[in-house]
Amino acid sequence: MKFFIDTANLDQIREAQDLGVLDGVTTNPSLMAKEGISGKENILQHYLDICEIVDGDVSAEVVATDFEGIVKEGTELAKLHKQIIVKVPMIKEGVKAIKYFTDHGIKTNCTLVFSAGQALLAAKAGATYVSPFLGRLDDISTDGLNLIEEIRLIYDNYGFETEILAASIRHTMHVINCAKLGADVMTGPLSSIDGLLKHPLTDSGLAKFLEDAKSFI
Ligand code: E4P
Repeated sequence: MKFFIDTANLDQIREAQDLGVLDGVTTNPSLMAKEGISGKENILQHYLDICEIVDGDVSAEVVATDFEGIVKEGTELAKLHKQIIVKVPMIKEGVKAIKYFTDHGIKTNCTLVFSAGQALLAAKAGATYVSPFLGRLDDISTDGLNLIEEIRLIYDNYGFETEILAASIRHTMHVINCAKLGADVMTGPLSSIDGLLKHPLTDSGLAKFLEDAKSFI
């Protein structure tokens, strides 16, 4: 299972990278705005800064919603750095653009996916990644994990190579359950990765070992 961090915050990306388990980064316009990054040149530079920190894939989202605009913007983003994955919304023009990018060797992440049908379309268009937003489904009393399970079944039935990138992860149990269901990738905040470390028996066990080790010195 690949671990991506879902942030545009460079310090958090560095911290996750330092842990040695980071495989990539996902961003979106809201995450960029949260860091106060605005203006085309600054945004492009920020993607380059992220690519310098991590070795893996970095999703950069287009904001155009028409086919020509998505293709123009995505082509420019893909040329920026070899680690850039063009993130395209699950809309009709987006599906057409994903097919175009697939045919032109440009990797894509189909975002804002909330149903198995949408995930099927993304795979048919050849998306590299599909991003079902499980946290946002949970937010409206719908079972986000069930969507991951459905997509896994459909992709396995037909051998689609599109990777399931479980997105909108909110906490460690989302990560663990996605791993159990066979999601290829998870993207979440730093806290969802750090949380995996924690267990009170580890803390109390270590405290006892260190206490007993004092007699060795
Ligand atoms: C996915 O790539 C999105 O950036 C992200 O996971 C959305 O998460 P949110 O629902 O917490 O905003």
